Amino acid sequence: MKVIRDKDGFFGIGIMHGKHEHNIGTLWRSAYIMGASFIFTIDHKYKHQCSDVQHAWRKIPLFQYKTFDDFYENLPYDCQLIGMEMDEKAEPISEFNHPKRCVYLLGCESNGLGPKVLDKCHKLVYLPGEHSLNVSVAGSIVMFDRINKA
Ligand SMILES: C[S@@+](CC[C@H](N)C(=O)[O-])C[C@H]1O[C@@H](n2cnc3c(N)ncnc32)[C@H](O)[C@@H]1O
Repeated sequence: MKVIRDKDGFFGIGIMHGKHEHNIGTLWRSAYIMGASFIFTIDHKYKHQCSDVQHAWRKIPLFQYKTFDDFYENLPYDCQLIGMEMDEKAEPISEFNHPKRCVYLLGCESNGLGPKVLDKCHKLVYLPGEHSLNVSVAGSIVMFDRINKA
């Protein structure tokens, strides 16, 4: 399998307050296949899933931050934080230009991203549809869109 990698840039993707291990595991596998450099969790300690048949843990690292502030202070240099949310301030993915270096942040399965976090994001993006998608599906779609527009 050919892994897609940016030649001039990188991205990471992660979930804040994720509740279900399988969503993180699914996102990890997709992230590796779609060329992410790393994934992360905020306020959720991930336990390894035997469903990870691609052994994504061998390929790209998972960083685990205890708090949003800890994560935010350690964002890579010159790297934008892109919040994925159905928010009135968000722009549609069809019009979104993916930054060369960025981190995509997904919210909790039940509550999404809170107002403090949304305010800290450089940009907010929403996906089509009247209802929210599964969090790992939303993550896969934004990565696919990045690849398509590259
Ligand atoms: C299941 S959703 C959260 C739903 C929650 N009940 C709410 O209304 O905020 C979990 C996460 O997936 C992402 N997500 C789901 N659907 C999305 C969409 N249409 N556009 C952007 N992000 C989406 C967001 O990051 C969201 O925080």
